[in-house]
Amino acid sequence: MTARIIDGVALAAKIREDVALRAAALSAKGIQPGLAVIVVGSDPASQVYVRNKVAACQKAGLHSVLESYPETMTQEALLDRIKTLNADSKIHGILVQLPLPAHIDAHLVIETIAAAKDVDGFHISNAGLLMTGKPLFRPCTPYGVMKMLEAEKIPVRGAVAVIVGASNIVGKPMAMLLQSAGATVTICNSKTRDLAWHTRHADIVVVATGKPRTVNGSMLKPGAVVIDVGINRTPEGKLCGDVDFESAREVASAITPVPGGVGPMTIAMLLVNTIEAAERVQQASI
Ligand code: GUN
Repeated sequence: MTARIIDGVALAAKIREDVALRAAALSAKGIQPGLAVIVVGSDPASQVYVRNKVAACQKAGLHSVLESYPETMTQEALLDRIKTLNADSKIHGILVQLPLPAHIDAHLVIETIAAAKDVDGFHISNAGLLMTGKPLFRPCTPYGVMKMLEAEKIPVRGAVAVIVGASNIVGKPMAMLLQSAGATVTICNSKTRDLAWHTRHADIVVVATGKPRTVNGSMLKPGAVVIDVGINRTPEGKLCGDVDFESAREVASAITPVPGGVGPMTIAMLLVNTIEAAERVQQASI
Protein backbone atom coordinates (compact mmCIF):
# COMPACT_ATOMS: atom_id res chain seq x y z
CA MET A 1 0.00 0.00 0.00
CA THR A 2 1.20 3.52 -0.72
CA ALA A 3 -0.48 6.11 1.43
CA ARG A 4 -2.53 9.04 0.20
CA ILE A 5 -0.74 12.27 1.06
CA ILE A 6 -2.89 14.68 3.09
CA ASP A 7 -2.38 18.17 1.66
CA GLY A 8 -2.28 20.67 4.53
CA VAL A 9 -1.35 23.56 2.25
CA ALA A 10 -4.55 23.31 0.18
CA LEU A 11 -6.85 22.86 3.18
CA ALA A 12 -5.17 25.72 5.07
CA ALA A 13 -5.63 27.99 2.04
CA LYS A 14 -9.39 27.22 1.99
CA ILE A 15 -9.71 27.95 5.71
CA ARG A 16 -7.78 31.21 5.33
CA GLU A 17 -10.10 32.29 2.50
CA ASP A 18 -13.05 31.75 4.81
CA VAL A 19 -11.31 33.75 7.56
CA ALA A 20 -10.70 36.59 5.08
CA LEU A 21 -14.44 36.73 4.30
CA ARG A 22 -15.32 36.78 7.99
CA ALA A 23 -12.68 39.47 8.63
CA ALA A 24 -14.14 41.62 5.86
CA ALA A 25 -17.66 41.19 7.30
CA LEU A 26 -16.44 42.26 10.74
CA SER A 27 -14.49 45.20 9.33
CA ALA A 28 -17.69 46.36 7.61
CA LYS A 29 -19.24 46.47 11.11
CA GLY A 30 -16.35 48.60 12.36
CA ILE A 31 -14.25 45.88 14.02
CA GLN A 32 -10.93 44.89 12.51
CA PRO A 33 -9.82 41.64 14.17
CA GLY A 34 -6.42 42.14 15.78
CA LEU A 35 -3.70 39.73 16.92
CA ALA A 36 -0.61 40.60 18.97
CA VAL A 37 2.29 38.16 18.69
CA ILE A 38 5.10 38.41 21.23
CA VAL A 39 8.46 36.70 20.89
CA VAL A 40 11.25 36.97 23.45
CA GLY A 41 14.82 36.07 22.49
CA SER A 42 16.39 35.16 19.18
CA ASP A 43 15.62 31.45 18.70
CA PRO A 44 15.76 31.19 14.88
CA ALA A 45 12.86 28.72 14.57
CA SER A 46 10.60 30.90 16.77
CA GLN A 47 11.49 33.95 14.68
CA VAL A 48 10.39 32.15 11.50
CA TYR A 49 7.16 30.88 13.10
CA VAL A 50 6.09 34.30 14.38
CA ARG A 51 6.88 36.01 11.08
CA ASN A 52 4.76 33.40 9.26
CA LYS A 53 1.89 33.90 11.71
CA VAL A 54 1.88 37.68 11.31
CA ALA A 55 2.19 37.47 7.50
CA ALA A 56 -0.78 35.07 7.34
CA CYS A 57 -2.86 37.48 9.45
CA GLN A 58 -2.07 40.41 7.21
CA LYS A 59 -2.97 38.39 4.08
CA ALA A 60 -6.37 37.54 5.57
CA GLY A 61 -7.12 41.17 6.44
CA LEU A 62 -6.46 40.88 10.17
CA HIS A 63 -4.60 43.61 12.01
CA SER A 64 -1.50 42.09 13.55
CA VAL A 65 1.47 43.35 15.49
CA LEU A 66 4.70 41.50 16.05
CA GLU A 67 6.53 42.51 19.22
CA SER A 68 10.05 41.14 19.38
CA TYR A 69 11.97 41.55 22.64
CA PRO A 70 15.55 40.72 23.60
CA GLU A 71 16.48 37.59 25.59
CA THR A 72 17.18 39.91 28.57
CA MET A 73 13.56 41.13 28.87
CA THR A 74 12.43 40.77 32.49
CA GLN A 75 9.41 38.70 33.46
CA GLU A 76 7.85 41.78 35.02
CA ALA A 77 8.17 43.77 31.79
CA LEU A 78 6.59 40.93 29.81
CA LEU A 79 3.68 40.60 32.26
CA ASP A 80 3.13 44.38 32.13
CA ARG A 81 3.05 44.29 28.34
CA ILE A 82 0.48 41.47 28.37
CA LYS A 83 -1.71 43.39 30.84
CA THR A 84 -1.65 46.41 28.52
CA LEU A 85 -2.66 44.22 25.55
CA ASN A 86 -5.42 42.61 27.66
CA ALA A 87 -6.93 46.09 28.02
CA ASP A 88 -6.43 47.11 24.37
CA SER A 89 -9.77 46.93 22.54
CA LYS A 90 -8.07 46.72 19.11
CA ILE A 91 -6.41 43.45 20.11
CA HIS A 92 -8.65 40.35 20.17
CA GLY A 93 -5.94 37.70 20.38
CA ILE A 94 -2.60 37.53 22.21
CA LEU A 95 0.02 34.90 21.47
CA VAL A 96 3.32 34.58 23.33
CA GLN A 97 5.60 32.30 21.34
CA LEU A 98 7.06 29.39 23.33
CA PRO A 99 9.63 28.47 24.47
CA LEU A 100 10.47 31.50 26.61
CA PRO A 101 13.92 32.19 28.11
CA ALA A 102 14.60 30.14 31.27
CA HIS A 103 14.33 33.13 33.64
CA ILE A 104 10.67 33.65 32.66
CA ASP A 105 7.92 31.46 34.15
CA ALA A 106 5.94 30.38 31.07
CA HIS A 107 2.97 29.21 33.18
CA LEU A 108 2.65 32.61 34.84
CA VAL A 109 2.89 34.33 31.46
CA ILE A 110 0.11 32.18 29.99
CA GLU A 111 -2.13 32.70 33.03
CA THR A 112 -1.66 36.48 32.67
CA ILE A 113 -3.16 36.51 29.16
CA ALA A 114 -6.91 37.24 29.37
CA ALA A 115 -8.66 33.89 28.76
CA ALA A 116 -10.95 35.57 26.18
CA LYS A 117 -7.84 36.62 24.16
CA ASP A 118 -5.91 33.36 24.61
CA VAL A 119 -6.01 32.29 20.95
CA ASP A 120 -3.45 29.54 21.66
CA GLY A 121 -5.94 27.93 24.08
CA PHE A 122 -3.18 27.36 26.64
CA HIS A 123 -4.67 29.31 29.58
CA ILE A 124 -5.66 27.03 32.46
CA SER A 125 -9.34 28.00 32.15
CA ASN A 126 -9.29 27.22 28.42
CA ALA A 127 -7.53 23.91 29.12
CA GLY A 128 -10.28 23.16 31.66
CA LEU A 129 -13.06 24.08 29.24
CA LEU A 130 -11.49 21.80 26.63
CA MET A 131 -11.24 18.96 29.13
CA THR A 132 -14.88 19.28 30.08
CA GLY A 133 -15.99 19.25 26.44
CA LYS A 134 -16.92 22.94 26.19
CA PRO A 135 -13.89 24.54 24.52
CA LEU A 136 -13.67 28.30 23.99
CA PHE A 137 -10.38 28.12 22.04
CA ARG A 138 -8.95 24.82 20.81
CA PRO A 139 -5.12 24.82 20.69
CA CYS A 140 -4.18 25.51 17.08
CA THR A 141 -2.16 22.42 16.15
CA PRO A 142 -4.59 19.79 17.50
CA TYR A 143 -7.51 21.83 16.10
CA GLY A 144 -5.79 21.77 12.70
CA VAL A 145 -5.33 18.00 12.93
CA MET A 146 -9.05 17.53 13.67
CA LYS A 147 -9.91 19.68 10.63
CA MET A 148 -7.63 17.54 8.46
CA LEU A 149 -9.24 14.30 9.66
CA GLU A 150 -12.68 15.79 9.01
CA ALA A 151 -11.76 17.06 5.52
CA GLU A 152 -10.27 13.65 4.64
CA LYS A 153 -13.42 11.90 5.97
CA ILE A 154 -11.32 9.75 8.29
CA PRO A 155 -13.61 8.11 10.86
CA VAL A 156 -12.72 9.15 14.41
CA ARG A 157 -15.75 7.84 16.30
CA GLY A 158 -14.82 4.40 17.62
CA ALA A 159 -11.28 4.59 16.21
CA VAL A 160 -8.21 3.65 18.25
CA ALA A 161 -5.97 6.73 18.39
CA VAL A 162 -2.43 6.72 19.73
CA ILE A 163 -0.68 10.01 20.40
CA VAL A 164 3.08 9.93 20.76
CA GLY A 165 4.11 12.93 22.87
CA ALA A 166 2.36 14.34 25.94
CA SER A 167 2.99 18.09 25.71
CA ASN A 168 0.51 20.74 26.85
CA ILE A 169 0.72 22.32 23.38
CA VAL A 170 -0.07 19.25 21.28
CA GLY A 171 -0.30 15.81 22.92
CA LYS A 172 -2.71 16.48 25.77
CA PRO A 173 -5.18 18.76 23.91
CA MET A 174 -5.01 16.39 20.91
CA ALA A 175 -6.14 13.58 23.22
CA MET A 176 -9.05 15.68 24.50
CA LEU A 177 -10.27 16.56 21.01
CA LEU A 178 -9.99 12.99 19.70
CA GLN A 179 -11.70 11.64 22.81
CA SER A 180 -14.53 14.17 22.51
CA ALA A 181 -14.97 13.02 18.91
CA GLY A 182 -15.42 9.42 20.09
CA ALA A 183 -11.95 7.90 19.69
CA THR A 184 -10.36 5.57 22.24
CA VAL A 185 -7.16 7.41 23.04
CA THR A 186 -3.74 6.45 24.41
CA ILE A 187 -1.07 9.07 25.09
CA CYS A 188 2.47 7.69 24.95
CA ASN A 189 5.45 9.51 26.42
CA SER A 190 9.23 9.15 26.59
CA LYS A 191 8.89 6.50 29.34
CA THR A 192 6.40 4.33 27.45
CA ARG A 193 7.56 0.71 27.33
CA ASP A 194 7.29 -0.84 23.86
CA LEU A 195 6.00 2.15 21.92
CA ALA A 196 5.59 0.00 18.81
CA TRP A 197 3.09 -2.25 20.63
CA HIS A 198 0.86 0.78 21.14
CA THR A 199 1.27 2.29 17.68
CA ARG A 200 0.62 -1.07 15.97
CA HIS A 201 -2.86 -1.14 17.52
CA ALA A 202 -3.79 2.32 16.28
CA ASP A 203 -6.12 3.36 13.47
CA ILE A 204 -4.84 6.94 13.88
CA VAL A 205 -1.29 7.75 15.01
CA VAL A 206 -0.37 11.36 15.88
CA VAL A 207 3.34 11.92 16.45
CA ALA A 208 4.56 15.04 18.27
CA THR A 209 7.87 14.30 19.96
CA GLY A 210 10.29 16.70 18.26
CA LYS A 211 12.49 13.72 17.38
CA PRO A 212 13.01 12.51 13.81
CA ARG A 213 12.09 8.87 13.08
CA THR A 214 10.20 8.33 16.36
CA VAL A 215 7.78 6.18 14.36
CA ASN A 216 8.51 4.14 11.22
CA GLY A 217 6.54 1.84 8.96
CA SER A 218 7.31 -1.32 10.98
CA MET A 219 5.52 0.28 13.96
CA LEU A 220 2.23 0.83 12.11
CA LYS A 221 -0.87 -1.23 11.49
CA PRO A 222 -1.47 -1.57 7.73
CA GLY A 223 -3.96 1.11 6.68
CA ALA A 224 -3.32 3.40 9.67
CA VAL A 225 -3.66 7.17 9.29
CA VAL A 226 -0.44 8.95 10.28
CA ILE A 227 -0.32 12.58 11.37
CA ASP A 228 3.19 13.98 11.72
CA VAL A 229 3.34 17.13 13.86
CA GLY A 230 7.15 17.38 13.97
CA ILE A 231 9.32 19.92 12.20
CA ASN A 232 13.02 19.06 12.44
CA ARG A 233 16.09 19.82 10.37
CA THR A 234 18.34 17.05 9.08
CA PRO A 235 22.12 17.56 9.28
CA GLU A 236 21.90 18.46 5.56
CA GLY A 237 19.47 21.27 6.42
CA LYS A 238 16.33 19.60 4.98
CA LEU A 239 13.04 19.72 6.89
CA CYS A 240 11.72 16.43 8.24
CA GLY A 241 9.01 15.37 10.66
CA ASP A 242 8.96 12.96 13.59
CA VAL A 243 7.89 10.05 11.36
CA ASP A 244 10.11 8.13 8.96
CA PHE A 245 8.02 9.18 5.98
CA GLU A 246 9.42 6.77 3.38
CA SER A 247 8.77 3.58 5.38
CA ALA A 248 5.50 4.84 6.91
CA ARG A 249 3.93 5.71 3.55
CA GLU A 250 4.31 2.08 2.44
CA VAL A 251 2.12 0.86 5.33
CA ALA A 252 -0.27 3.74 6.09
CA SER A 253 -3.45 4.54 4.16
CA ALA A 254 -2.97 8.31 4.57
CA ILE A 255 -0.10 10.42 5.90
CA THR A 256 0.71 14.10 6.36
CA PRO A 257 3.96 15.31 4.77
CA VAL A 258 6.56 17.61 6.33
CA PRO A 259 6.63 20.32 5.16
CA GLY A 260 3.12 20.93 3.82
CA GLY A 261 1.06 18.96 6.34
CA VAL A 262 0.21 20.06 9.86
CA GLY A 263 2.38 23.22 9.86
CA PRO A 264 0.17 25.35 7.57
CA MET A 265 -2.92 24.15 9.44
CA THR A 266 -1.56 25.44 12.77
CA ILE A 267 -1.36 28.94 11.31
CA ALA A 268 -4.79 28.69 9.67
CA MET A 269 -6.39 27.69 12.97
CA LEU A 270 -4.70 30.59 14.75
CA LEU A 271 -6.51 32.86 12.31
CA VAL A 272 -9.79 31.03 12.98
CA ASN A 273 -9.33 31.46 16.75
CA THR A 274 -8.54 35.15 16.31
CA ILE A 275 -11.59 35.79 14.12
CA GLU A 276 -13.78 33.91 16.61
CA ALA A 277 -12.42 36.05 19.46
CA ALA A 278 -13.27 39.21 17.50
CA GLU A 279 -16.73 37.90 16.52
CA ARG A 280 -17.50 37.24 20.20
CA VAL A 281 -16.60 40.84 21.04
CA GLN A 282 -18.82 42.08 18.21
CA GLN A 283 -21.75 39.89 19.30
CA ALA A 284 -21.38 41.01 22.92
CA SER A 285 -21.65 44.64 21.80
CA ILE A 286 -25.01 44.17 20.05
N1 GUN B 1 5.67 27.00 20.17
C1 GUN B 1 5.47 25.88 19.42
N2 GUN B 1 4.19 25.80 19.04
C2 GUN B 1 3.55 26.86 19.57
C3 GUN B 1 2.21 27.31 19.52
O1 GUN B 1 1.31 26.70 18.91
N3 GUN B 1 1.95 28.48 20.18
C4 GUN B 1 2.92 29.16 20.87
N4 GUN B 1 2.57 30.26 21.50
N5 GUN B 1 4.17 28.76 20.93
C5 GUN B 1 4.48 27.62 20.28
